[in-house]
Amino acid sequence: AQVPVNVTVTGAAGQIGYALLFRIASGQLLGADTPVKLRLLEIPQAVKAAEGTAMELDDCAFPLLQGIDIFDNPGQAFEGSNVALLVGARPRTKGMERGDLLEANGGIFKPQGEAINAGAADDIRVLVVGNPANTNALIAQAHAPDVPTERFTAMTRLDHNRALSQLAKKLGVSINEIKKLTIWGNHSATQYPDIFHAEVNGTTGAKAVGDQAWLENDFIPTVAKRGAAIIEARGASSAASAANAAIDHVYDWVNGTPEGDWTSAAIPSDGSYGVPEGLISSFPVVSRNGRWEIVQGLDIDEFSRGRIDASVQELSEERDAVKKLGLI
Ligand code: NAI
Repeated sequence: AQVPVNVTVTGAAGQIGYALLFRIASGQLLGADTPVKLRLLEIPQAVKAAEGTAMELDDCAFPLLQGIDIFDNPGQAFEGSNVALLVGARPRTKGMERGDLLEANGGIFKPQGEAINAGAADDIRVLVVGNPANTNALIAQAHAPDVPTERFTAMTRLDHNRALSQLAKKLGVSINEIKKLTIWGNHSATQYPDIFHAEVNGTTGAKAVGDQAWLENDFIPTVAKRGAAIIEARGASSAASAANAAIDHVYDWVNGTPEGDWTSAAIPSDGSYGVPEGLISSFPVVSRNGRWEIVQGLDIDEFSRGRIDASVQELSEERDAVKKLGLI
């Protein structure tokens, strides 16, 4: 029998956790042949709720699910962890400045980085979902000096999927007909969904649309502000779609991206495309042999350059802010 993969999920009793855990346990995170053990991390007040979710997981009788453990301290939750989904985070509350938000999240992601460093398995892969995701990933990474830096990633796959869906609707094509779309930069309102390199039935996404005004005034803001639109409509933030994107990200990381296509993920920059080295920024990426690689050699026109630079500038400012707070 195969050795089960230990998957740690933080914020397990939250909305995304509720949408995510059942899919992990059913085999969608790693593949239908891979047994999993879940290690759930919550704050003490939410442990009981996590236990309730674990009861429901039991009641699904998933053949691949070989165990569920629930913790309220990171030291135990990351012990032997092979995959860590860092979902729990401190949300921005009314009147909170960016510095306060970063500081509050530093209090979560610093100890989690330390725990990953101390106890996770050698092949640990980390996906940060909790916002501000890119900078939270940077904080965790900074406190795990023994883990290769490339193992810390942040999620822009939901933005990627949102962009695919909007473009497919606009062009009246199916999702399968669109390849090589890219989200650049920060998982925030400054993110840049790029359709200039996207391929749609033998042309580019931008040419197929042929409408720069739609691109600038409709497509980009729709993708960037989709999270707020969901809250407005649903009365709660995106949870199932965020969980779905986390599944997509890890599945591709472990199993590889399809030939002839790429996806988007926030990974540590090696300086490609003028993104300062070390920033955890979204790029066009492929996954080969269990590693993300940035797609090289794309021509970036002036419009795209400006958008990428603006989002990367925001990431640099966030990095400076957490440096100043002593969090990295
Ligand atoms: P939620 O508020 O329903 O759940 C968060 C859970 O995290 C709560 O159960 C809370 O008790 C737990 N938590 C808080 N601090 C923790 C800690 N130190 N250790 C372990 N658990 C802790 O929130 P939801 O809807 O599940 O969203 C989670 C995060 O994901 C938010 O930061 C949200 O902004 C972010 N998000 C990111 C997206 C992306 O595309 N990157 C998309 C959607 C949401």
